[in-house]
Amino acid sequence: MNIGIIGSGNMGAALGKLWAQAGHQVIFSYSRDANKLQDLAMAAGSNAKVGTPEEAVTQSDTVMLAVGFPSLEAILRMICSLEGKIIITCISALHPDFTGQTIGIVTDLKLSIAEAIQQVAPKAKVVEAFNMTFAEILASNTRQFGVEYPSIFYCGDDEEAKKTVAGLIVDCGYEAIDAGDLIVARSLETLATAWVQFAVSSQLFPNLGLKALRR
Ligand SMILES: NC(=O)c1ccc[n+]([C@@H]2O[C@H](COP(=O)([O-])OP(=O)(O)OC[C@H]3O[C@@H](n4cnc5c(N)ncnc54)[C@H](OP(=O)(O)O)[C@@H]3O)[C@@H](O)[C@H]2O)c1
Repeated sequence: MNIGIIGSGNMGAALGKLWAQAGHQVIFSYSRDANKLQDLAMAAGSNAKVGTPEEAVTQSDTVMLAVGFPSLEAILRMICSLEGKIIITCISALHPDFTGQTIGIVTDLKLSIAEAIQQVAPKAKVVEAFNMTFAEILASNTRQFGVEYPSIFYCGDDEEAKKTVAGLIVDCGYEAIDAGDLIVARSLETLATAWVQFAVSSQLFPNLGLKALRR
């Protein structure tokens, strides 16, 4: 699969590397430091290259949006058409200083970020995923905790797109759990805030994985 990464920071870099290593063709884009992108593509191996955000979209079937919330509007303006693309978002509207009392969802949001992206790009297939794992876990040698693998909840309105994203979650070494339609992103994004807050206040951040137990 061809995957465009927009936002090659902690999350985008780690996800892109894992997908390139799993055999996908990955384009890293969107950094203020071109050398950083080149180094990243080199480290990810022969399946990875550097491009502009526009190239990351036009040359890919699936686009990972891994930018900070304040960059999202500019990114959506910069990209021409997302028609037919699977768009994965892990974007949380966390306040920058999530270590203190300032953590929380930005209160003037009327929609989840995932739904807002879907409104701007109605012909894209938006899937929310990866917002309840930490970049440090993605970047570590394994996602395994003892004998367990952490779970990633994902949601979206297009069933085929969700199947594709479930495969990409498994490629990264997680269990994929379908959480329902895109409207569930309202809960997943809120849960992500609570998850970060819990991880920080318990001093377990970032060595923490979320696991859905079944019986
Ligand atoms: N970190 C986590 O563990 C985690 C977990 C789940 C979800 N998330 C969410 O995932 C998203 C990405 O998080 P992250 O930790 O990967 O963020 P990050 O490391 O700050 O990455 C942001 C990316 O956007 C790029 N960028 C380009 N222009 C920018 C600009 N003008 N201002 C700011 N950034 C610019 C940055 O490039 P340069 O800095 O290289 O210029 C970087 O590649 C966020 O919405 C976050 O809430 C993060």
